[in-house]
Amino acid sequence: MFMTTKKMLVTCALPYANGSLHIGHMLEHIQADIWVRYQRMKGNHVYFICADDAHGTAIMLKSQKLNIAPEKMIAQMQKEHKKDCYEFGISYDNYYSTHSEETRELLNNIYFRLKKNGFITSKYIYQLYDSEKNIFLPDRFIKGVCPKCKALEQYGDNCEICGAIYTSLDLINPKSVISGKSPIIRKSKHLFFDLPAFTDTLHIWIRSGSIQKEVANKIEEWFKLGLKQWDISRDAPYFGFKIPNTSEKYFYVWMDATIGYMGTFKNLCKKNKNISFKDFWDLNSKAELYHFIGKDIIYFHSLFWPAILSGSQFRKPTNIFVHGHVTINGSKISKSRGTCIDVSTYLSYLNPDYLRYYYATKLSSHINDIDLNLSDFTTKVNADLINKVLNLASRNSGFIHQYYGGQLANTLENPVLYDMFIKYKHSIGELFQKREFNYAMRKIMKLADEANFYIDKSAPWIIAKNKNRKKEALSIYSMGIQLFRIIMIYLKPVLPTLAKYSENFLNTHLTWDSLSAPLLNHRINKFKIIFLRINPDQISSIENKSNNLNS
Ligand code: 2FM
Ligand code: ZN
Repeated sequence: MFMTTKKMLVTCALPYANGSLHIGHMLEHIQADIWVRYQRMKGNHVYFICADDAHGTAIMLKSQKLNIAPEKMIAQMQKEHKKDCYEFGISYDNYYSTHSEETRELLNNIYFRLKKNGFITSKYIYQLYDSEKNIFLPDRFIKGVCPKCKALEQYGDNCEICGAIYTSLDLINPKSVISGKSPIIRKSKHLFFDLPAFTDTLHIWIRSGSIQKEVANKIEEWFKLGLKQWDISRDAPYFGFKIPNTSEKYFYVWMDATIGYMGTFKNLCKKNKNISFKDFWDLNSKAELYHFIGKDIIYFHSLFWPAILSGSQFRKPTNIFVHGHVTINGSKISKSRGTCIDVSTYLSYLNPDYLRYYYATKLSSHINDIDLNLSDFTTKVNADLINKVLNLASRNSGFIHQYYGGQLANTLENPVLYDMFIKYKHSIGELFQKREFNYAMRKIMKLADEANFYIDKSAPWIIAKNKNRKKEALSIYSMGIQLFRIIMIYLKPVLPTLAKYSENFLNTHLTWDSLSAPLLNHRINKFKIIFLRINPDQISSIENKSNNLNS
């Protein structure tokens, strides 16, 4: 069948550079990585990028608290996040930072284009100001009484108790989270991006694509409420990029965050001269652009971002892929409640592929939250990966080495079964393509059951007792290895570490194209048990360490 190779650029949301990554963050990196690895196996040209989101008040205040320069703090954080992602097998082509010359340059160009096209206006606004710390207060740095239900300790933008949406000026008895003092009201001139001017363009974009239904419904609600002018400026003190031709005004972090996708890609183009920036971002680009994001940042990616791109004559995203949030043992991830497991804590006890597999069994194309139940995680990994999949390799390879020097039989013992296994490539491939990883994992595990059943039923160990039937036993054991190989090809996008190990063991590359070519008369290596069952003690250690770190 004729297959066209696609050019794709895939991104994950850029993590803030003010804290370590936890295993909840990894859901998105893993989801996108599985999809990207599948696309690459199918022969598509994919660039996969991410970066740290390095600006904003929260980052500035955190660096002050730590008493280090923000540049130093974000550089350390970026290094740590990059390492965490690579250790988790996330196959980024570039992991960069929004605090970069590339992003600054693109941001300024886009701003000038928007201005020239009449999409930037200015007006005076009133905001709460902390006169002790001399800083305008962002909504998350103000707490007070909800004007509607009178709940205490609510943030400046909405009430977590009654859901009311308001402005910080409406809060009763507001207090600055930074100084604890009552703020004053102060006037300042701000710059606004004309989002309402893009209402029709955005409508068309949303309806023309294949945006997830739940996401499209949410966006429709926002349209009904009417789009509003978006404040893209912030007053000093702020850690970010200065707005050209203004005094002490900075771009709001969300303005340069999304442009950071472009900046990161531009940096990749600088490192690899064969990649053309224009091919991916020009208005008439044929390349596909996908953003994986969490459900909390749909507004930025479905409205602001395509509008900014459109207003500055760049292409819009092909699609945005939204996922839900992670809970651990049914609770929200929270440092103070001790339910936050850092990536480095997880990695000091367990293989990354175990979590990758577990998330894959839960991920779909929907935006429902995903619970990481640690005892279910243990059971699933041990039952599926160790007892079903890896057991196939270990139970079938011993005999082949003992009597035939690792040489597989030169014919297929059961070609019908082999064909049945490889026919699944269409349905499993389609499930990967549609991000229905949970169904894909179920299908693959059914195949692993079939393969084990085939061996149990054929009982080659009994046949092998008769010295004249050793070849027959070799045929069956070899068939077991062939089935293991097919299963590992299907699992390769999910399990990079295990796939690499299996490639060594099978002495071959696991590729989608080679599914129909069994390894006949081929020498395999000895199977070493390096992937162990998860021991409940490891889970307790992870939990204890996380509790201690967070207390
Ligand atoms: O919500 C967040 O964590 C943001 N740092 C995501 C930014 S995504 C993109 F726009 F940069
Ligand atoms: Zn309320």
